[in-house]
Amino acid sequence: MPKDRELMHSPIEAVWDWSYLIGQAKLEQLYAKAKQAQWNADVAIDWTVPVDPGGKLLDAERVAILKLDFFKRSSPTKLETFNAHHSAWILSQLLHGEQGALMVAGELVAQVPDYEAKLYVASQVMDEARHVEVFARYIRKLDKIYPAQKTLKSILTDIIETRHWQAKTVGMQVILEGLALGTFINVRAATGCNLLRSLLGYVTSDEARHVAFGNLYLTDEVAALHPDDRAEVEDFAFSAMSKLVAMRRGMEGMDGFDQVLIDSGYDPPDFLKALHSEIAAGFKLTTPPGSVHTMKGLILPGIVRAGLVSDRVRARYESSGIKLFSDTAVLEQFERTGDVAAS
Ligand SMILES: [Fe+2]
Ligand SMILES: [Fe+2]
Repeated sequence: MPKDRELMHSPIEAVWDWSYLIGQAKLEQLYAKAKQAQWNADVAIDWTVPVDPGGKLLDAERVAILKLDFFKRSSPTKLETFNAHHSAWILSQLLHGEQGALMVAGELVAQVPDYEAKLYVASQVMDEARHVEVFARYIRKLDKIYPAQKTLKSILTDIIETRHWQAKTVGMQVILEGLALGTFINVRAATGCNLLRSLLGYVTSDEARHVAFGNLYLTDEVAALHPDDRAEVEDFAFSAMSKLVAMRRGMEGMDGFDQVLIDSGYDPPDFLKALHSEIAAGFKLTTPPGSVHTMKGLILPGIVRAGLVSDRVRARYESSGIKLFSDTAVLEQFERTGDVAAS
């Protein structure tokens, strides 16, 4: 197999619905909405808009790491180079997530048991194909595609390898795409690049339907699971969340960042030394005001709403210090409008 291909094993089963009957009108409506809202990236997006790799792709004010003195000491040219590679690295992670979403949506077409759910998920396959297409095109205009971070890859592998479509849906749609969505919304609000803002606008409008699918279908299907299967899906969600939280809390989130530093002319050990000493001196990596709080607003309410936090697993979340936010206001606003007001 070529170096840029990788095999993973998926144990999925296909379910036929020979009735061809619509049982759930709301899913049919979501499918109708999806058909209406299809867009063609060749036509909808003006790819002639130049990308300025040194420009404010990810607004410096919103990139916590750029507040380090280590970067403030750099020349403007060096910072521009870093900005381009750093943006490409972040966008590459989103791209890999989109390829995962594309494949999982394809699997769901076979796995979901209801005719109208199959039709809807088929529309999502096309949505995710467009997302992969636009991110790959954009990143190549800007720089190069960076490999997937270890934690992301590990969650993607778990999602492919589970046999439960409910686990695939929660892993991909609620957890990974929830994370991506937070980034889409925050970057779109702040980027100085018109092309990036435009493509993120189209992508987030599709994602609003994907989140709505979780609400309309996943919750009922989780409730209908055999208790043993439901326990497996609950465990799956907890495990994916633990990996994600560990990545965000520790240095694992920096995996792959070495290459960004090297590509930008920095020495990774120098950076680490500066980071540790600035943190010791009181520097904090904080989310800028006005950002959507991804965990609190999107991911955890999505897991709770899907019915995946039983008393059996609640204590595990608590002892891992993962707060079980359950207010679905941000999620619901996003489903309705395709946007959320930053809080
Ligand atoms: Fe997507
Ligand atoms: Fe999606």
